[in-house]
Amino acid sequence: MASLKKLVNNESRYLRSFQLFLDRSSEHQSMQKFINGTLPDILARIGDGKSSIDVMGVGSGGGKIDLQMLSQLQSKHPGVSITNEIVEPSGEMINNYKELVSKTPDLENINFTWHMMTSSEYELLRTEKNITTKMDFIHMIQMLYYESDPGARVKFFRSLLNQTGKLLLILGSGTSGWAKLRNTYKSELCDSNIGQYVTTYLNEYLDAEGITFQSYDLSSSIDITECFTVGDENGELLLDFLTQVSDFSKMAPEDLKAGVMDLLHHPECSKEIDGRIMFNSTMVVVVVGP
Ligand SMILES: C[S@@+](CC[C@H](N)C(=O)[O-])C[C@H]1O[C@@H](n2cnc3c(N)ncnc32)[C@H](O)[C@@H]1O
Repeated sequence: MASLKKLVNNESRYLRSFQLFLDRSSEHQSMQKFINGTLPDILARIGDGKSSIDVMGVGSGGGKIDLQMLSQLQSKHPGVSITNEIVEPSGEMINNYKELVSKTPDLENINFTWHMMTSSEYELLRTEKNITTKMDFIHMIQMLYYESDPGARVKFFRSLLNQTGKLLLILGSGTSGWAKLRNTYKSELCDSNIGQYVTTYLNEYLDAEGITFQSYDLSSSIDITECFTVGDENGELLLDFLTQVSDFSKMAPEDLKAGVMDLLHHPECSKEIDGRIMFNSTMVVVVVGP
């Protein structure tokens, strides 16, 4: 990825590209179904008997999914106060999150604190300031890709959990189009040193460490049809999100572009439904904790 620029480092383009991705995918709807159906049982025993439940979101973006989870937490633990800390490097995302909080009713018992930094910067901050507070629930949703050492991050955030605490991660599944794309163009599109798709790495890491976990598949797809119309602005933004490269169609070498476009259309990544090209973005939820 030497000459290509990472999308995540171009904050405003990242934000537009991510928003377009959300508009074209069923990702948040699929997460919402999980939050309403399965999550309440997962949350039932966290913070048992405590007067306050301590939550942390890592890479929370605009906070839509966070607030849905907090609402389930409130229903499971009525009357209990909640502290919610957010570790998120993008100032624009934090502003969106704050705006959403200001418009959302029934959040009086939740105290929000935003840390505008990456997860590794947050780890440093805790060491420097000798912060020792523990958490009951930590979630890292669709963010572990941005860390070059995902194992170290998972280890660190696990170390912040109380005894009954849980860590929840959501990532693209190892059977998704994401995995196929990133495993095929490892050196061109990824600069992480794990050598394989992050979900596969995570499962292997947890097994090797003897850490038990539950996992749940969430089906989801993205309508990537616009990516195949040359010069289409939305298509280009979506392509940036898929490759995580800023201005991929302008900056990538022709052979890489042709290979990526072919693969995106390939049955291992996508299906054609009613004339639309639907990219397989199945996710997996991994829950670590008692
Ligand atoms: C794909 S978005 C997911 C946002 C949200 N969790 C969701 O699912 O809607 C990834 C988020 O991770 C944030 N991020 C990127 N690098 C990060 C890092 N090193 N540490 C923490 N968050 C990071 C981005 O700013 C962005 O908000």
